[in-house]
Amino acid sequence: MLIRYAAFLLAVLAAAGASQSTPHTRSYFYVGNTYRTNADGTFADGQMYVEHLRPVRVEHRVPLVMIHGLSQSGTNWVNTPDGRPGWADFFLSKGYELYIVDQPARARSAWNAAFDGNVSLPSTLSVAQRFTAPERFNIWPAAKFHTQWPGAGVQGDAIFDEFYASQMQSLDSNAETDTKIQHAGAALLDKIGTAILMTHSQAGPLGWLIADARPRLVRAIVALEPSGPPFFDTTVTIPPAPARPFGIADIPITYDPPLTSATDLERVLVVNNSVTVCFKQAEPARQLVNLQRIPVLAVTTQASYHAHYDWCTVEFMRQAGVNVQHISLPEVGIRGNGHMMFLEKNSDDIAALVERWVAEHD
Ligand SMILES: *[C@@H]1O[C@H](CO)[C@@H](O)[C@H](O)[C@H]1NC(C)=O
Ligand SMILES: *[C@@H]1O[C@H](CO)[C@@H](O)[C@H](O)[C@H]1NC(C)=O
Repeated sequence: MLIRYAAFLLAVLAAAGASQSTPHTRSYFYVGNTYRTNADGTFADGQMYVEHLRPVRVEHRVPLVMIHGLSQSGTNWVNTPDGRPGWADFFLSKGYELYIVDQPARARSAWNAAFDGNVSLPSTLSVAQRFTAPERFNIWPAAKFHTQWPGAGVQGDAIFDEFYASQMQSLDSNAETDTKIQHAGAALLDKIGTAILMTHSQAGPLGWLIADARPRLVRAIVALEPSGPPFFDTTVTIPPAPARPFGIADIPITYDPPLTSATDLERVLVVNNSVTVCFKQAEPARQLVNLQRIPVLAVTTQASYHAHYDWCTVEFMRQAGVNVQHISLPEVGIRGNGHMMFLEKNSDDIAALVERWVAEHD
C-alpha cells in the first residue's frame, strides 16, 4: 500500500515537472471585457484571461507578460508536451513575476458566435509540417536543419499527440485579433503597470500594437519569431498572400508622418525569391514613433520558416526607427530549432539566452 502510494506520488511529481520548484503564488483575473447585448441577453465580449504567477522572492522591477501565438494558448509557457518544466518555470526561478494570457476569443477567454468572427483549428498535418516535423516535409529550405522537437513530431507519437491536443481554435481574421488584444493588452498594462512583453509568432504584431497603445508602460519587447515579413505571408503561403497592410500589423499603428490610409506607406521591393518577398519603405521612411524608445529583441531559429524572413521584419522596423537587436540562434551556437523553440529539447538553453537580455532591460 505504502509502496503503491509512493509510486503514485512520484508519478504525480513527475507529471508536475519542476513547476513547484520555485515557491510562488498563482491567481487569475480577466481584463478588457465589454458587455454586449442582443436578443438573447447581455454577454461578455473581448475579455482576456490572465494567469498571474508571482515568485515569493521577486528579483526584478518589472514583470513579464507572455503572449502565445496562433492556435496556441497560455499552456505554451507552463510546461513542455514531454513533461519538462516550461519557460514559466525558468523565468520564475530567475525571480520574474509573470502574467500569462489566453488571447481574447481563445481558450479560457470565451469565444461567442454572436459577436466574434469565425475560428479555425489546424489539422494534425499542418501542425506537423509547420511546427513539430518540418524536416519530413521540406516545404522551406531551412526545414532540413530541424532536430530539436522531442519525439517523432507526427500523429501517433505520444508527445505530438499531447501537443496537438493543446491546439485551439483561433479567429480567422488577423485584424479582429489585433483589435481585440490591443484593447485587452492595454487594459492589462493599465492594471499592472510597466511590463516587458514576450510575444511569439502571431503575437508579434500584438506586442507592437499594445506598445503603440501604451508606449510608456512597455519597458522592452522580446519577439520570438514575430509574424512577418511586412505586407506578405510568404514561405508557407505559396504564392505569397497579402498581409499586414500597415507593414507590421493588420490594423493602424502610429507612424510619423501620420498615415491617412495604409496605401500611404510607399513600398520598395528588396527581395522577391522563392522563399520570401521583402519590402521596405521608400526614403524618407515614416517612423514608428511610439516604439522608438522601447528596446526589442527578435529571436529566430535555424529551421523555422521564419529563418527566411525575420531579417526583413527587423530591417523594416530599424528603418522606421525602432531599436531592434536580432539574434539568429545558429549564429550563437543553438542549432536545430523550429518555430516552437520554447517546447523543444533545448528549451532551457534558449530561455537562458533570452533571460540574459531581459535582465539587462528590466
Ligand atoms: C463564417 O462561417 C460561416 C459558416 O461557415 C460562413 O457562412 C460565413 O461566410 C463565414 N464568415 C466569414 C466572414 O468568413
Ligand atoms: C515576385 O516575382 C514573381 C515571379 O516573377 C511575380 O509573379 C510576383 O508578382 C512578384 N511579387 C511581387 C510582390 O513583386
